[in-house]
Amino acid sequence: MRIDVVTIFPAFFDVLEVSLLGKARADGLVEVRVHDLRDWATKPDGSPDVHRAVDDAPFGGGPGMVMRPDVWGKALDDILGPPPEPALDGSASPGQGSRLVVPTPAGEPFTQSTAGEWATEGRLAFACGRYEGIDARVAEYYRTAGFRVSEVSIGDYVVNGGEVAALAMIEAVARLIPGFMGNPESVVEESHTEPGLLEAPCYTRPASWRGLDVPEVLMSGNHAEIAKWRRAEAERLSRERRTRQG
Ligand code: 6GU
Repeated sequence: MRIDVVTIFPAFFDVLEVSLLGKARADGLVEVRVHDLRDWATKPDGSPDVHRAVDDAPFGGGPGMVMRPDVWGKALDDILGPPPEPALDGSASPGQGSRLVVPTPAGEPFTQSTAGEWATEGRLAFACGRYEGIDARVAEYYRTAGFRVSEVSIGDYVVNGGEVAALAMIEAVARLIPGFMGNPESVVEESHTEPGLLEAPCYTRPASWRGLDVPEVLMSGNHAEIAKWRRAEAERLSRERRTRQG
């Protein structure tokens, strides 16, 4: 999979060098390219801009600044590559071209199931906005041009820009690419694999620690009983923490 990221803070993505994702990059499973949006900055008339400004005041007034569609358009035209070839019936052919991801607190929820769908994409491109957001015509333009465009949120709170959200999504997606995890079974039984179901607590040695003992059943060797206990704990936690009926 190839992942492109466009941002005014490329250094945010230095962390992708470390940990499992760094290894996946080294193994050639994932190729991540981070681009500085300011490399495409010009004045609104197209002439070179020494200040490399990427934002302007919002039409309609209000606080903050909006990221300019002309700058984003030049960057994304260069980075996304051609739009997907339409199928004979005119529909977009899935799996071709980049999926454009626009992180925004006003987006649809990004969930484990979203991560699973994106893990089979050939190319993902993240457009990380700062300030009040990216001019709304950018997403509209690339959708009309035939790209699959996802405006998504990582939760009901606000972070300062799309960078932190993009990092979370990149990690959630990359670990689902076949061959990424050292032990593929660890993605099968984990929180959210079954939507809304949290994973049961886990324990290791020592069996007794500071007066706290590991639940007896986990040391019984009875795999059916252990599976039953874990299911019951998962449902209890989900009920307590997520008001899930289960
Ligand atoms: Cl995707 N972006 C920002 N800036 N804040 C968020 C978010 C995204 N998801 C939740 N909060």
